[in-house]
Amino acid sequence: MQRTFALNIQQPRPPVATPNDLAAYWMPFTANRAFKRAPRMLAGAKDMHYFTTDGRSIIDAAAGMWCSNAGHGRSQITEAIAKQAANLDFAPPFQFGHPQAFELASRIAALAPDGLDHVFFCNSGSEAVDTALKVAIAYHATCGNAERTRLIGRERGYHGVGFGGISVGGMVNNRKLFGGMLTGVDHLPTIYVRDKQAFTKGEPEWGAHLADELERIVGIHGASTIAAVIVEPMAGSTGVLVTPKGYLERLRAICDKHGILLIFDEVITGYGRLGYAFAAERYGVMPDMITFAKGITNGAVPMGGVLIRDAIHDAFMKGPEHMVELFHGYTYSAHPLACAAGLATLDLYREEGLFERARKLEPLFADAVMALKNEPNVVDIRTVGITAGIDLAAKDNSPGLRGFEALNSAFHHHDLMLRVAGDTLALTPPLIVSEAQIGEIMDKVAKVIRSVA
Ligand SMILES: Cc1ncc(COP(=O)(O)O)c(C=O)c1O
Repeated sequence: MQRTFALNIQQPRPPVATPNDLAAYWMPFTANRAFKRAPRMLAGAKDMHYFTTDGRSIIDAAAGMWCSNAGHGRSQITEAIAKQAANLDFAPPFQFGHPQAFELASRIAALAPDGLDHVFFCNSGSEAVDTALKVAIAYHATCGNAERTRLIGRERGYHGVGFGGISVGGMVNNRKLFGGMLTGVDHLPTIYVRDKQAFTKGEPEWGAHLADELERIVGIHGASTIAAVIVEPMAGSTGVLVTPKGYLERLRAICDKHGILLIFDEVITGYGRLGYAFAAERYGVMPDMITFAKGITNGAVPMGGVLIRDAIHDAFMKGPEHMVELFHGYTYSAHPLACAAGLATLDLYREEGLFERARKLEPLFADAVMALKNEPNVVDIRTVGITAGIDLAAKDNSPGLRGFEALNSAFHHHDLMLRVAGDTLALTPPLIVSEAQIGEIMDKVAKVIRSVA
């Protein structure tokens, strides 16, 4: 049944107290001192809105953090979590199971391209990435190719914060203080070249050839040393970098030629962001593994996972049957609360047709964002699915300052939640966003951009 997507700012709000001591909590990926001087404090959320501790209603143009694709406080999900907590609060995932874990794995496999039929659960995108990288290396070893250990990421890629993820990732601030990281890692060049791609709606025409750089890397190291390539079909965290037309097909072909596994990191693009269950479907390219997290539970309970191609899974299913096949897993893999949230979330996505809805809204969303082109300091806009990146020129030779001011201006003065990556504003609202709310968000974004001119 289709819901109506009315503005819902009259919800009762929970009574909240603003804490008077902010010192103890060292916040992740946050300018802690600046935050604690002017906190952006959230107390509640419903549908398209957050509610602040000082009683304001803030429209969410970020789906929380690319997570809440069905909007916030969805009772179907929260009730499923509560019921599950009362019934089975925890089940050890090593050597024991519970029905919801198997059901959820089957439901996720059914959404994925045929042949990606096995799911390994963990608790976050970072764990999903580390899991996929480990499975890739272990798979080659299992097949007698133990020298295939090298991993290839990409400049400006983000794959979370585990040592595996930052090693294949390509964001300098996430890497430079953390030592040598994994050895045997190389990087493809970024897919974003502003001169050739600026102000493109959807996938840029220019850039498919950048995939050929994999041949150059093979030429340096030898294909027989390379286990896997990992890329995001849309790089969200580095500012919404959209994959050029034809790029993924070329990467797939080169991987096939050399026996290299291809991993799509779909932690952001999974579950509807680009109008399909997975971006692999949008692009018609079949990877060997897909990592996911965020949208699988609508953000309501931490969960991540890896979809794994049958041949890879099956390669491990040999040896004595009493033996563990893969020495890997987490205490909270397939946690009952996460599985309950995941099942309820997939129901909601299906019942409300949210992936199709995203597909339908995409042109309108892209036009609305592109209309901000002539606002001050806008140097590029990129759009894909229900996501856009707006690059602002750096202020006072201080990269990130204008973006940070925009984040604050949006929250404190324009009742808008944005995501910011450096000086890029990322817009990625829940997929329930109405046409009117898209207009409202763009009006607010325009005001924010002017306020930091
Ligand atoms: C593509 C991608 N991979 C991995 C991650 C890491 O996920 P998490 O923060 O859940 O560890 C993210 C987070 O934004 C991501 O965008």
